[in-house]
Amino acid sequence: MSTVMVADEAEVTEKRETKGTTRRDGRATVSRDVRETVGEMRVEEPRMRCDEINVWYGNKHAIRNVSLDIGKNEVLAMIGPSGCGKSTFLRCLNRMNDTIVGCRVTGRIMLDGEDVNSPRIDVVPLRAQVGMVFQKPNPFPKSIYENIAFGPRIHGLAHNPQEMDEIVETSLIKAGLWEEVKDRLDQPGTGLSGGQQQRLCIARTIAVSPDIILMDEPCSALDPIATAKVEELIDELRQNYSIAIVTHSMQQAARVSQRTAYFHLGDLIEVGDTKQIFTNPRHELTEDYITGRFG
Ligand SMILES: Nc1ncnc2c1ncn2[C@@H]1O[C@H](COP(=O)(O)OP(=O)(O)OP(=O)(O)O)[C@@H](O)[C@H]1O
Ligand SMILES: [Mg+2]
Repeated sequence: MSTVMVADEAEVTEKRETKGTTRRDGRATVSRDVRETVGEMRVEEPRMRCDEINVWYGNKHAIRNVSLDIGKNEVLAMIGPSGCGKSTFLRCLNRMNDTIVGCRVTGRIMLDGEDVNSPRIDVVPLRAQVGMVFQKPNPFPKSIYENIAFGPRIHGLAHNPQEMDEIVETSLIKAGLWEEVKDRLDQPGTGLSGGQQQRLCIARTIAVSPDIILMDEPCSALDPIATAKVEELIDELRQNYSIAIVTHSMQQAARVSQRTAYFHLGDLIEVGDTKQIFTNPRHELTEDYITGRFG
């Protein structure tokens, strides 16, 4: 009896000291009540560096003190239960939260030596450099050609019609859509299939020469074949861009990303190598989520 009590006391003491628990399989895990981020938020070559980001919608504290890097040529997956703040965090990265009345963002997001929240930053070029692909494909009610040419025209990227043709063709090739649409460029973008529309939207994002591409559940409206094409594309795009993708599919996160960040009720709970997060999570909340006990 007394031996058991000693063991229990030892465990309680350890929990207090390390804010963690050691399980019977010998693996140390961080307890559910810990909210500081576990894992490596920083990378060697960050393309974007976020420091202590907080977001409020009125009084609602939607993102709490999140620090996270997005690396060069990496796909970073953001996962977590509905309402945990994935879209909110993603929108901070190109100041899309500016468009939401009552939304307040604090903290620092460094890109090319400047804070994207600085008043000196013009959001129009910022949103070209940090492009966004949404959940539902949203082509403009224009031709396939015009869907791509629209952005480069606004940003003055083509000096003559030949240059514009080249941008349109290159963007469609990079998005893996050229072969399917090259003979119907004058037809409406909205006439394409859902998967083609999503690749058109990716081509549109690429056309304005971004460095970073943000994707908010880009495959949730697509069938498995279209999803596979977009996932393949994401992997190819990594050669030239940094990508942050929100997904509800853990299989997708495992397939396309190198790093994974797990969010829970506005906190960044754990971040690390994708394989480690899915096979050997360190935080109990991450483990609950990936094993289907939560969300
Ligand atoms: N425009 C808004 N006004 C007020 N509250 C908002 C707004 N957008 C999001 N929220 C709140 O902020 C929190 C985070 O929402 P967010 O949309 O970022 O979550 P999410 O992780 O993307 O969820 P989902 O997986 O369902 O897309 C939620 O509690 C949500 O209700
Ligand atoms: Mg969302």
